[in-house]
Amino acid sequence: MPLTVPEARAYYDRFGSKQDSQGFYEDPALDALVRVADFAHAEMVLEFGCGTGKFAERLLSRELPESARYVGCDVSPVMIDLATQRTAAFKDRCSIRHSGSDLVLPAEDRSCDRLVTTYVLDLLSEADISRFLQEAHRILAPGGRLGVVGLTHGVTWLSTCVSRLWRLAYDMKPAAVGGCRPQSLTALLDSRAWNVAHREVVVAWGVPSEVVVAEPRERSARTPT
Ligand SMILES: C[S@@+](CC[C@H](N)C(=O)[O-])C[C@H]1O[C@@H](n2cnc3c(N)ncnc32)[C@H](O)[C@@H]1O
Repeated sequence: MPLTVPEARAYYDRFGSKQDSQGFYEDPALDALVRVADFAHAEMVLEFGCGTGKFAERLLSRELPESARYVGCDVSPVMIDLATQRTAAFKDRCSIRHSGSDLVLPAEDRSCDRLVTTYVLDLLSEADISRFLQEAHRILAPGGRLGVVGLTHGVTWLSTCVSRLWRLAYDMKPAAVGGCRPQSLTALLDSRAWNVAHREVVVAWGVPSEVVVAEPRERSARTPT
């Protein structure tokens, strides 16, 4: 069972800056996302579940044009404080906001050219993932891209063992693994609503992460999300 939103908030309030210790398997997957998401041509980026602001700092200092704006949101007040401090040098073009349990993203319709979320969908319920994807469709501008990174199923003997053990731990006690479980991100994206432009699995220290870049298909009144 996924953690409820109050349980996730309480967990990540306690975990705080320890989140950065996960870089040993997250960073290689984030490198892959940066290689394929073309942040160099982005002007408005929203990150859902920005955590300590580690990826925000990287985007603002190295990957985005100096004219680009970044908005990060998170449900955990401790994470919001950490991310706000970490991005203080960029405060003219960066804002960190609280996101509620309603999954409404803090952006106008068709206003973002990149929406990123890393290791967050892993801990949402299916209903919340579906709500997030509807919101992603709403806020992405034509030609915009969704970049998602998350834990996934193994592709080698070792990564399959790690992924299965992770799932076992999650089934026994979700909080033991931060409420995160491996899943197939591409399977979550309805092909009538999303065009998957890039998909790869990056394995670091045996932990498999899926990296996906997807573009919203043109909306019609009957397009599902
Ligand atoms: C595993 S951490 C990942 C943090 C960061 N994206 C990273 O890759 O290091 C999950 C983050 O998602 C946030 N989170 C969990 N549920 C959320 C929700 N419903 N809305 C917004 N943020 C959420 C947590 O507070 C935490 O900062």
